[in-house]
Amino acid sequence: MKLENKHIVITGATQGIGLEIVKQLYPQNEITIIARPSKRLDELKTNFERLKILECNLSDNQSVTTTALKLTANKDKKIDLLINNAAIQYTPHFLDPQFNYETIEQEITVNFIAPCLLIYHCLPALMQKSATTIINVNSGLGLVPKTNSAIYCATKGAINIFSQALRSQLEKTNIRVVQIFLPLVNTNMTKGRGVNKLSAKEAALEIIKGLSNSQNDIDIGKVKILRFINRLMPTLAQKIMKRV
Ligand SMILES: NC(=O)c1ccc[n+]([C@@H]2O[C@H](COP(=O)([O-])OP(=O)(O)OC[C@H]3O[C@@H](n4cnc5c(N)ncnc54)[C@H](OP(=O)(O)O)[C@@H]3O)[C@@H](O)[C@H]2O)c1
Repeated sequence: MKLENKHIVITGATQGIGLEIVKQLYPQNEITIIARPSKRLDELKTNFERLKILECNLSDNQSVTTTALKLTANKDKKIDLLINNAAIQYTPHFLDPQFNYETIEQEITVNFIAPCLLIYHCLPALMQKSATTIINVNSGLGLVPKTNSAIYCATKGAINIFSQALRSQLEKTNIRVVQIFLPLVNTNMTKGRGVNKLSAKEAALEIIKGLSNSQNDIDIGKVKILRFINRLMPTLAQKIMKRV
């Protein structure tokens, strides 16, 4: 897909990888951002005047549905690319005194239910004669979990399985379902942890590059090695990731 004169819809674009995707695609495309109100969102509006903004809290299913219905209300308005990028990650263990059980539902809602709902409601706008694409931004942790962030890893695993099944459901349509499996990236999500991180700009470039790749599950950087080890020696892959 040539990314020019397209209508692109993206979540999680107020910072990190999503913001870098917007910076790279903004000049040649029309972009709609789905984001909750914040100072960061206000700055985005100021810096990128042509952006269309739909305010939405992705941890609220009703807000997601209402937003998606607004987005698709104009039946003549097509979507060329839907990028499910927003996610949250909590790191406390279940046994930690500071573990807040209310984060369980929030993490599952933002990371898994919101993308499913958005895809469902956007399908009519994605169903066109020309090729369109759904990108679900995933993680190496969707293949093999680490010890921290059990719920986050589970939501990414769920996105992986969901994406594969959805791909089969849509195989006779014009819609391609792509997953990008990222390694550790230097954003607020990983602040204060990890080394040798990919920059958000590099991650965004890889995601955009993924569209010109014929593969639908695209592994970036160290995820290539992780998938290889996991295929041949799953126990070793689990041991390695347990220590991450
Ligand atoms: N960073 C990594 O190492 C890494 C590795 C593998 C995969 N990934 C994946 O890459 C994607 C982007 O991650 P990132 O590192 O760029 O994250 P980030 O910098 O923490 O940004 C997360 C984005 O999600 C939005 N968001 C969170 N909760 C929301 C809600 N309830 N409603 C609306 N928007 C909400 C945030 O908006 P606000 O500004 O309003 O908070 C922000 O724009 C995620 O899918 C993540 O799982 C990241």
